[in-house]
Order: sequence, then structure tokens, then C-alpha cells
Amino acid sequence: MEDKLKQFLEIFDSAMRQGQLVKLTLSKLRRRSDDLRNVYVKPVRLKSGDFFSFEHKYQSRHEVKNLSADQAVETIKALLELHFLQADLFGLQQDISLTIFTSGKMKLKTREVPKRESPDMKHDRQKKRLLDPASPWWFELGLTDREGRVLPSMQHKFKQINRYVEILAPLLKHLQKENPLKILDMGAGKGYLTFALHEYLTNQGNQNVTITGVEMRTDLVSKTNHIASNSNLEGLKFDAGSISDYPISQLDVLIALHACDTATDDAIAAGIKAEAKLIVCAPCCHKQIRKEMSAAPEQHPALQFGILMERQAEILTDTLRALIMEYHGYKSQIMEFVELEHSPKNLLLTGVKAKSEPDKTALANRISALKKEYGIREHFLEKALGITPF
Ligand SMILES: C[S@@+](CC[C@H](N)C(=O)[O-])C[C@H]1O[C@@H](n2cnc3c(N)ncnc32)[C@H](O)[C@@H]1O
Repeated sequence: MEDKLKQFLEIFDSAMRQGQLVKLTLSKLRRRSDDLRNVYVKPVRLKSGDFFSFEHKYQSRHEVKNLSADQAVETIKALLELHFLQADLFGLQQDISLTIFTSGKMKLKTREVPKRESPDMKHDRQKKRLLDPASPWWFELGLTDREGRVLPSMQHKFKQINRYVEILAPLLKHLQKENPLKILDMGAGKGYLTFALHEYLTNQGNQNVTITGVEMRTDLVSKTNHIASNSNLEGLKFDAGSISDYPISQLDVLIALHACDTATDDAIAAGIKAEAKLIVCAPCCHKQIRKEMSAAPEQHPALQFGILMERQAEILTDTLRALIMEYHGYKSQIMEFVELEHSPKNLLLTGVKAKSEPDKTALANRISALKKEYGIREHFLEKALGITPF
């Protein structure tokens, strides 16, 4: 092992053991193609003792592992050898950085710093939430008690709602000049996410908005409208109706979270037709493409196993949605919405209207080749858009 790496690992080891470590950051990837972006290490106190929390940040997800000091040294060594060229250790009195050059040479730099405070070791400290559980609508919606405490049975739901706002916030940022910002939430259901977005944009984002939840269940529409008007929430309303024929005059953002099966396609089609600047959907069940797939298992061996066929159908459904959106001028992205342990329906498909025209011929070729490979005649989104299948 190169001396400087060995020296850095020894400093890291003793900083950990002497309670001097505030945090350590790994950056500068060895390979640009790497999905891993950064690793952040900090001390953490768990019931079972003191550990080091390793947060691995990937392009569209993150993973946290708690390791012992011995495991931490081995892991940092492997990460530096395989993935990263830069390590920055922030201590209570010193910062030490290791830079690895592509030639293999290394540089170790130490900088004295004014004494820092010891890091907060509490693992379970409450994360700052974007939404205020004391807002009266959360009680009315059944997520909190009268004092604004999230009910134990609703903790996961509230976390999921916060996460949703956290993901949407940067996407909405560049639209905040729209006055008012017009948002449609298709298949709003009990309205949790509709209220959340309204709260975030009006209270924290200081935004003038009109948000309409569209829902076919009239009982839910009456209830959510009642709560919105009782809470004097200006610009928030719910309409009874069906996603496919809801009249849209002008629209900035279309949202459809967990709208069942092809209702997601109806929503995406409505967003594309209305030229929404942003489309966000969390696909639900994926029955349509599963039935359409006719590729032979000899050609795609995974298809002989029911569960893998189902997963493949999900992947194809959402890939085709993303590509068809790109064909219509959107920059598509698919990311994890909540951790799998909270919901199996955990993908979020987003489309931001791009300024430049896409290469329609190339996209049409990719879409039709993918469909052909799996024997798919028509994706429901093509039908909902009223276009000839690719
Ligand atoms: C699983 S819930 C999701 C609710 C909410 N978006 C959320 O994520 O918490 C789906 C909702 O969409 C509604 N829905 C499904 N298809 C619809 C359609 N075609 N038109 C209007 N509402 C629809 C259902 O009635 C249901 O309330």
C-alpha cells in the first residue's frame, strides 16, 4: 500500500477511536461511469454502541450502513482503491485531505482549524420536516392527533409525504415564476399529497398556486373539499371526474401518484396534450403491458418465471412511458420515490418540458425496436395520446 494512503488510514483510525472525527467525505470518482457519487462518514451512537455511519450516495438513491471502527478503515481503504480520488477528513482540531492523482501519486495535506464542536451522535434525532404536522388539515385528514403529533400508525405515511415534497421541491423551483402556478393532481384519492404540496408551496415556497385534485370517488372529493374550505386553503380544490376526460385549459404541472394501471397513462397523455411544463407520476400496477408481451421465453429466458415476467413488464411499461414522453419533448427521469421497505410502488417518473426539440426519428426507432423485441403491439399511452403505435 502506498505510504500516504497508509498514513491517512492511520489518522482516520485514531481520529475515530479518540472521538476526534467530525466527518469524512469521499469525492472525485476514478471512473465517470460510476453510479456511486460520494460517501459521507460520521460517528453515530446506537443502542448497541458507537459506530460510523456510511452514507453511500448514488445517482438516484442513497444507502446508509453503520460500521465498526475496524470495518470503517477497511471500507475506506477499498473505496479509495476502487472508486475515489479524494478523501477529506474533518476533525475537531484538524482537517486532513488525501488527494490521489491519476498517475498513482498521492498528496496528504493537514490544516489546523479553530476547535469545532463535537458531532451530534444521536442517530434517531428528528429530521427537519418540510411539512408542519401541527397544520390543522393533517388532523382532519387523520394523520395526527389534535396536538399535531403524527399518529404512530401514520409515521410511515407522513414520512412518505415529506419525501415526496422533498423530491418535488427542486423540480418546482424553476416554475415558481408562474403566477399562479397551475397544478393538477390526477387520482388525488384522500388528498394527502395534494394538501402537502399546497402547504409546501404556499407556506414555505411563498407561491401563489391553484391546485386541483381530480378524483373519481365522489365521497373522497366531498371530504377533501370540506377540509380545504374549513382550513381556508385558498387555491386548493377537488373535482369529481375521470382523468381521461377532465377538461384542462392551461396547466403548468401534472401529477399522478399511484393512479391505477393505465390511469397513469391517461394522466401522462393529459399532461402532454396540455403541454404541462412538468409531469410527475408514480406508476401503480402494470397489467396492460404484461398482457401484451408475447416474446418467447427461449428468446428472453427471464420470461419463463412468473415473477420476473411481472418485473420485466413493469420495467418495460415505465421505460416506454419515459421514452414516449421524450418523443414528445420531455426530459424524462426515473428515480426512487421512497425506500422499498415503505412501499413496493416506489418509482417516480418525471418529465420536464425541454427547450430543444428531441431527435424524434431516433426515439421512434428505439421505441418501436423495444416494443418489437417483446412483442408489444400497443402501449396504452400511445392509445391515450391518440397516436399511431410506433
Ligand atoms: C392508489 S390511490 C392514490 C391516491 C393519491 N394519489 C396518493 O398517492 O396517495 C389512486 C386513486 O386514483 C383514483 N383513480 C383511479 N383511476 C382514476 C381515474 N381514471 N380517474 C379519476 N380517479 C382515478 C382512485 O379512485 C384512487 O382514489
